[in-house]
Amino acid sequence: MAGLKLENVCKRYGAVQVIENLSLDVAEGEFVVFLGPSGCGKTSLLRMVAGLEEVSGGRILIGDRDVTVAPPGQRNLAMVFQHYALYPHMSVRENLAFGLRNIGIPADEITKRIQESARMLELDTLLDRKPGQLSGGQRQRVAIGRAVVKEPGIFLFDEPLSNLDAALRGRTRLELAQLHQRLGATMVFVTHDQIEAMTLATRIVVMKGGAIEQVATPAELYRRPATKFVASFIGTPGMGFVPVERAADDRGRAVVTVPGGASVVTRVAADGLASQGLVLGVRPENLRVAEQGPLRGRVELVEFLGERTLAHLKLEGGTPLIVTVPAGVSLRLGSHVAVSVDVAEAHLFDEAGLAHHAQEALQ
Ligand SMILES: Nc1ncnc2c1ncn2[C@@H]1O[C@H](COP(=O)(O)OP(=O)(O)OP(=O)(O)O)[C@@H](O)[C@H]1O
Ligand SMILES: [Mg+2]
Repeated sequence: MAGLKLENVCKRYGAVQVIENLSLDVAEGEFVVFLGPSGCGKTSLLRMVAGLEEVSGGRILIGDRDVTVAPPGQRNLAMVFQHYALYPHMSVRENLAFGLRNIGIPADEITKRIQESARMLELDTLLDRKPGQLSGGQRQRVAIGRAVVKEPGIFLFDEPLSNLDAALRGRTRLELAQLHQRLGATMVFVTHDQIEAMTLATRIVVMKGGAIEQVATPAELYRRPATKFVASFIGTPGMGFVPVERAADDRGRAVVTVPGGASVVTRVAADGLASQGLVLGVRPENLRVAEQGPLRGRVELVEFLGERTLAHLKLEGGTPLIVTVPAGVSLRLGSHVAVSVDVAEAHLFDEAGLAHHAQEALQ
C-alpha cells in the first residue's frame, strides 16, 4: 500500500495545455474517483501517474518516493484500462500469470496469487477458458484480476466498467467496492459517470477542463457543491437553477425575487454577495408542490418513479424546474402550481459560478 501525491502536475500535447497545475494528496487506502466530462484530462492524468505518459511539469510521488521520471514497472502500481485487452490465445490462468512471470515471480508464488485472486473475483471455474469463451463481465473481472495478482501499492482504473451493460455495471461496481474493502489498497478510479463516483469513492475529485473544480466526500459534494458546475454534474435529476434578483436583506440573510415576483428569504449570508447575476440552486427533493410556495410554474410532465413522483415545470420566463409531488397530490398537465423551497438546502450561485451556501446560523 502507498499514498499518492501530485504536485503542480501539468500536461501539454504540443501547444495544447490539457492539465494545469494539478495538486492532490491521496492517502494510503483511499478510494479516490476522478469525475469529469469527456476530454477534461482524466486519462491523461492517470497515464502520467502510471508512467505511460511524460509529465510536462510538476512532480508525482508514490509513498515518499519521487517517481516523476521512473519507468512504469518501478512504480508499484497496476492499471486497468478503459479498453482492456486480454491475450485471446491464452487461458484465463495464463493471462493472469503472464505479467508475473515477466518480472520473475517464482512459479509457486504465481500459483498462490492466481488462486487467491480467482477466489476473490469468482474466476475459479473459468481459469482454463480462453477470453473468447467468457462473457463481457467475466472478461472485465479477468482484467481486474491481472491487476490484483500484481499486489500493487496503488490500483489505477480508467473507466473499467464503461463497456458493460447497466445491470453488470452495477454488480461489478459492488464487487470493486468489496475488493477495496478486502485489500485495503489505494485506488484511483476515473469515470464520467457520477453514480459510479458517488457509490465507490471515499473522495471525489471533480475535474473541468484540466483543473480540479472540487475535492470532497460524495455527501459533501452533493450537499455543498463549490460551484454551479459541480452542482449540475452531481445528482439525477440534477439541481434546478432559477435566475433571481437581489432584494433588500433580512437580518443578514440575502433575500431574492424569483420569476413571477415573489420573494424568498434565503439562509445565504447577504454580506459579500453580488447584487446581480445570481442563480438560486435547489435540488428536486428540496422543492415541493405546495399551495403557498413562492415559485409558480406550469406542469409540463409528471414522472411517477415508484418511491416518489416528480413534476417537470416551466416557470415564468421559461426556466425549467423539476420538483417533488407529495404523496396523494395529483397534477393535471398544463395546470399551474406553486412550489415551496427548503431554504436550508438552497444555494445561491454568483456570476462566476461560485456557490454561496445556506448557513445554519442564519435560520
Ligand atoms: N496524444 C495526444 N495528443 C494530443 N492531444 C491529446 C492526446 N491525448 C489526449 N489529448 C487531448 O487531451 C484532452 C484530454 O484527453 P483525455 O483522454 O485525458 O480526456 P478524458 O477526460 O480521459 O476523456 P474521456 O472521458 O473522453 O475518456 C482532450 O482534449 C484530448 O483531445
Ligand atoms: Mg479517458
